[in-house]
Amino acid sequence: MSNLKAVRGTRDLLPPETALWNRIEATARRVFARYNFGEIRTPIFEDTALFSRSVGEETDIVSKEMYTFEDRARAQSEKTVSLTLRPENTAGVVRAYIEHKLGETGQLQKVYYIGPQFRRERPQKGRYRQFSQIGAEVIGPPPAGSESPIRDAEVLEMLATLLDELGISGWTLEINSVGSAADRARYNEVLRTALVSVAPGMCPDCQRRAVTNPLRVLDCKVPEDQPIIETLPKIVDSLDEASKAHFAAVLAALDAAQVPYTRNYRLVRGLDYYTRTTFEFTHGGLGAQNALLGGGRYDGLSEAIGGPKAPGIGFAMGEDRLVLTLQALEAAAQQKVDAYIAPLGENLNPAALALARELRRAGLSIDLGDGSFRLKKSFESADKTARRMVILGEDELQSGILTVKTFATGLQSKVNRAELATYLSTPASE
Ligand code: HAM
Repeated sequence: MSNLKAVRGTRDLLPPETALWNRIEATARRVFARYNFGEIRTPIFEDTALFSRSVGEETDIVSKEMYTFEDRARAQSEKTVSLTLRPENTAGVVRAYIEHKLGETGQLQKVYYIGPQFRRERPQKGRYRQFSQIGAEVIGPPPAGSESPIRDAEVLEMLATLLDELGISGWTLEINSVGSAADRARYNEVLRTALVSVAPGMCPDCQRRAVTNPLRVLDCKVPEDQPIIETLPKIVDSLDEASKAHFAAVLAALDAAQVPYTRNYRLVRGLDYYTRTTFEFTHGGLGAQNALLGGGRYDGLSEAIGGPKAPGIGFAMGEDRLVLTLQALEAAAQQKVDAYIAPLGENLNPAALALARELRRAGLSIDLGDGSFRLKKSFESADKTARRMVILGEDELQSGILTVKTFATGLQSKVNRAELATYLSTPASE
């Protein structure tokens, strides 16, 4: 057998798993089209300077994770240049926006991308050296309104919709504001001062960051450092009035659209270009690498790489992590019984047992509740152990029409008793 293998941190994706990747990509394209995003494809390698000026010299990505190589001159007319495999796609999109003068259209540019990114990280489950991102960016010249908080809220609402349509339940949206570049610089100084007395008791990384980039201390995962970090000043107290108002408007729009979120004062993100809104969607099923996606606003990025003023906001989802989450949810669903029968009142227990017997004899796996339980308790037990719940009350018993709740979709249907066994044996996602 050949000893040539896929390089550490890279993987082959084989059928049937590739079908799941294709389904995720098709769903993303469909949802993006509904929000009027068009596809952009930028090159996989770029000038190294693009990433050091945008993502930032001091970040982990630029300082230690990039695949950078010299592209040697092949003729006297050519120069040797330093190239880098893209570690992320936002910098490339903003470079393209500048290069093609897209700002001169006066319109908001709404683009999405799907493709491989490269970072030399320590590989583990959910973390690879070649991974795929599905991302989107909204950029435009100031008259087009790209700075407006409604853009932030719309992007977040789109993400909530996309995750729901992918069938990813149980996500959490964590949100914060890191303010303007001036707010951040002010906060960095406040942190630097606060860290002078406490940093010597922290991990070696934090001791270094306390001097080079105090904001990064907030990302520390070392358990012993957490109580110290909790006592540090919060960035929200360093925001100017305009940034505070912007953030309040984003949250108000999310409330109106009923997109649930949690405020996380420590969410500063690992890339330097962020201003104002930053966010991550996490999922408990992912383990240590629990970020499904991350993003935020980058109002100064275009200018930082030599372009015109062009505020923007966007995100990137880790496609590998979407796949892992869907596989875990699918495995959990397969371990559940077909249905849980919830009798409404103790007097209905005998009828519920008869119904359970009927369905079990038809080959279905059934958990039987107890009529003495409150409906809420029955719902909770059923959600843990079954794909569906059948409610059996006096009315249902008389009419022979039962109420069935499907947990994966949240749908409640009326089903004739004669058709119940067939209904319960169809997959719960349909
Ligand atoms: P990021 O947080 O560095 O942001 O990456 C976004 C997502 O890519 C992460 O939440 C994670 O799901 C996935 N990801 C990152 N590194 C890896 C890895 N080594 N293996 C597997 N998945 C990974 C950005 O890249 C920004 N460009 C997002 C953005 C767009 N902000 C504004 N616009």
